[in-house]
Amino acid sequence: MTPDRILRIAVIGTGPAGMYATEHLIEDRNLNVEVDLFERLPTPWGLIRGGVAPDHPEKKLIVERLFDYFFKHGCVRYFGNVEVGVHVQPRELARWYDAVIYAVGASDDVRLGIPGEGLPGSVSAREFVAWYNGDPDFSHLDVDLSHPRAVVVGNGNVALDVARILTAPVADLEKTDITDHALRALKASAVKEVVILGRRGISQAAYHNPELEEIGHLDGVTVVVEGDDASPPNVDWATRRKLETLRELSAQSTRAAERRIVFRFLCSPVEMLGEHKVEQLRVVQNTLEPVSNGTLQARPTGKRLFIDTGLVMRSIGYRGTPIPGLPFDDALGVVRHIEGRICDDQGAVLGNYVTGWIKRGPRGIIGTNKKCARDTLRCLIEDLQAGRLTPAELRSTEVLQEIKARQPEAVLRPGWLRLDHAERTAGRAQGRPRVKFTEREEQLTLAAEG
Ligand SMILES: Cc1cc2nc3c(=O)[nH]c(=O)nc-3n(C[C@H](O)[C@H](O)[C@H](O)COP(=O)(O)OP(=O)(O)OC[C@H]3O[C@@H](n4cnc5c(N)ncnc54)[C@H](O)[C@@H]3O)c2cc1C
Ligand SMILES: NC(=O)c1ccc[n+]([C@@H]2O[C@H](COP(=O)([O-])OP(=O)(O)OC[C@H]3O[C@@H](n4cnc5c(N)ncnc54)[C@H](OP(=O)(O)O)[C@@H]3O)[C@@H](O)[C@H]2O)c1
Repeated sequence: MTPDRILRIAVIGTGPAGMYATEHLIEDRNLNVEVDLFERLPTPWGLIRGGVAPDHPEKKLIVERLFDYFFKHGCVRYFGNVEVGVHVQPRELARWYDAVIYAVGASDDVRLGIPGEGLPGSVSAREFVAWYNGDPDFSHLDVDLSHPRAVVVGNGNVALDVARILTAPVADLEKTDITDHALRALKASAVKEVVILGRRGISQAAYHNPELEEIGHLDGVTVVVEGDDASPPNVDWATRRKLETLRELSAQSTRAAERRIVFRFLCSPVEMLGEHKVEQLRVVQNTLEPVSNGTLQARPTGKRLFIDTGLVMRSIGYRGTPIPGLPFDDALGVVRHIEGRICDDQGAVLGNYVTGWIKRGPRGIIGTNKKCARDTLRCLIEDLQAGRLTPAELRSTEVLQEIKARQPEAVLRPGWLRLDHAERTAGRAQGRPRVKFTEREEQLTLAAEG
């Protein structure tokens, strides 16, 4: 490998996976790279901006600072508001660059597949999260907070995030970068109780203990645990911590609290009922039965309950979507690959790689994507050393011309820095990290100014 040869690489997606891949590329002293970042939205950082809860400002700040450092590196360019598969196709990128790394995350979610799921009042946590975090495609989502009870289906960290946002004191949220439209809706919210439905038991819950502990820090919120034994024998250390936390939270339970979060275990939704919108959720109680791989699976008992509610939020996992022209594993919701090399029926599609949630599925915290990106880059470097990469056909100036011709509203790095500055300045005036601009047109206007 010769550091003299400039390796031109496109990274698609600017969430943790794309940015860690960029970091590894820049920091590899044996490589001499130019990295072009393509991002569907005008704004970078994927789920750091659009997923991580607004009441986790330190986490956002630390990660954004890190990514910003690599983003501003002299060999990195940004093409925001450019969607691969729409403005530019994978087969074109494969010719324009020595290598292309897809880090497009999981942009859909899993459905419950029960009757009534299409009724107004049934939304996914993914949509709700995108709405309160300022994804311009969700700024007009209709979130009905007029009923005193909301139900969140699922026992993962996202379920805890949305339950927290639904019950947190608005005065606390006002200090964050949550969108103004979400703040207005939450101020007017009638929600007094959020039921978190787990189809299995406490010991099988997917959320982590620190996220569970945070529920205990919500002012004016009491916790109730229903439906499962909080003292099962023979559980591992991590599960024991969660059991203790839930016990402590429910021991502090008080009737005087303004709002409550009910952890209801061993229940599955079976139907959403209502004439024009969700009015009730029918659930079935489950028991657990062991399956061949040693895990415990939920099995319905036939015993049913009805929960009155106006909002049912499924939080049962994200899901990757295909990019036209790339082989896709529909069962897993990931781009088909072997160890990060994109593969079709003929084998590796040389020069094309995948990392992050679109490689592994929608699992793992921010840091998990760092190792994932490193593993993928190991394959890329092996291919480079073995002479398997076809040199880029276009120079960087030619790519810029192509992008501007296809997407005149592409947001380049100075454009994002202007938008970022405008959001932070607006935030400073209100004692918040930033005030997000949530309409695409508004974002593009601010990015274009100057
Ligand atoms: C609601 C939520 C909260 C979370 N909170 C935390 C947390 O507090 N702490 C933690 O450690 N982990 C958290 N996670 C997990 C963490 O966010 C993920 O591990 C991580 O974001 C996955 O990174 P990614 O780059 O694969 O995907 P993403 O972050 O989704 O990034 C993918 C990027 O690709 C872009 N893109 C998609 N399609 C295209 C296309 N066709 N062309 C161009 N660009 C495209 C997207 O716009 C996006 O910017 C959270 C996850 C969720 C869902
Ligand atoms: N603060 C943080 O660090 C943070 C915050 C948010 C997200 N994240 C990470 O992001 C990733 C995604 O989180 P997530 O919460 O979306 O997914 P997740 O952790 O995979 O949890 C999904 C939950 O949905 C349940 N579920 C699946 N299908 C169901 C069905 N048909 N009916 C009822 N319940 C069903 C699962 O139960 P079963 O176990 O029974 O399948 C599980 O409890 C995770 O790795 C998470 O740790 C981290």
